[in-house]
Amino acid sequence: MKNGGSCLILGIESSCDETAASVVRDGREMLSNVIASQVDLHARYGGVVPEVASRKHVEKIQPVIAEALGEAGVGLDDLSAVAVTCGPGLLGSLLVGVSAAKALAMARRLPLLGVHHLEGHIYSNFLVEPGIRFPALCLIVSGGHSDLMVMEGHGLYRILGRTRDDAAGEAFDKAARAMGLGYPGGPAVDRAAAGGDPQAVPLPRALMDGGFDFSFSGLKTAVLRALAQPQPPSVPDLAASFQKAVVDVLTEKTERAARRTEIEHLLLCGGVAANRSLRAALAERAASLGIPLTVPPIALCTDNAAMIACAGYYRFVAGERHTLNLDTRANLPFPALEAV
Ligand code: KG4
Ligand code: ZN
Repeated sequence: MKNGGSCLILGIESSCDETAASVVRDGREMLSNVIASQVDLHARYGGVVPEVASRKHVEKIQPVIAEALGEAGVGLDDLSAVAVTCGPGLLGSLLVGVSAAKALAMARRLPLLGVHHLEGHIYSNFLVEPGIRFPALCLIVSGGHSDLMVMEGHGLYRILGRTRDDAAGEAFDKAARAMGLGYPGGPAVDRAAAGGDPQAVPLPRALMDGGFDFSFSGLKTAVLRALAQPQPPSVPDLAASFQKAVVDVLTEKTERAARRTEIEHLLLCGGVAANRSLRAALAERAASLGIPLTVPPIALCTDNAAMIACAGYYRFVAGERHTLNLDTRANLPFPALEAV
């Protein structure tokens, strides 16, 4: 390995509306973590516009990579490898990051690693706590996914449950839009809920009887119905009740899974892991289960490239490499051992 025996990975992430690059040493130490967010650009449309996103990525990718290297104080020749999100996500956005990574890999003869975006989210936990013990139970809640999985070792996953319709973050975004809270919805609901009564509006908790799959589309419909009443609830009350319903389902299913499987550690990740109520509720469940819980700081819950560099590091030290033919896939399946 170069650089005095340490392993420096450049991570690149461009799957949605964040152009991000980061240098991570030995899968642990973030030497830089640069994120150019496009939130303001998309806010006026009420959501991410794919064409606008990819054009912005093209504009930002090089300066963001240069800034990440500069902040880290390393040159391209110091790098051990380049890791990049190769899916899932918006195809046009993914292609920008993957093309940049391939260009660097080719020009500097650097090893290339394609990382699954969700695996990146999981590894945001390893940036915080490299001593996570296996098997670990992981709740991944993002804009596109709500998954419960058991991580049996590095790169070894068993999926217990996933969303059947809307993902948790998608539910937050749709509910926020219905309540007129704007985009991005999750943080807006989080803020509005702080001033409301979570018991004020009765809302459904779906699929509580069986399995570990999630369903949030009925909840969104219930929010719309509540708003259509002659005397609708206040936005803070509805936001708090909605948030409580999501958090109840996520934490209850996670606790059940933890009780059913022999696990040593609990992990929370993905954009929705930034939700204060979810963080607090899961911490309570973990304490009552007597299982250690790791939750990344809020800045590492939403999309970033440090988590991609970290996931890439573990695959790199395991000897994995991709060729310049690395595929970019909008619907890249998760590299799980088996689906239950
Ligand atoms: O992981 P992420 O940044 O992107 C995807 O991979 O999808 O997650 C974005 C999602 C959005 O749906 C956003 O509304 C949600 O995470 N989110 C939150 C909060 N912050 C972001 N949801 C609830 N509470 C928050 N504080
Ligand atoms: Zn994400």
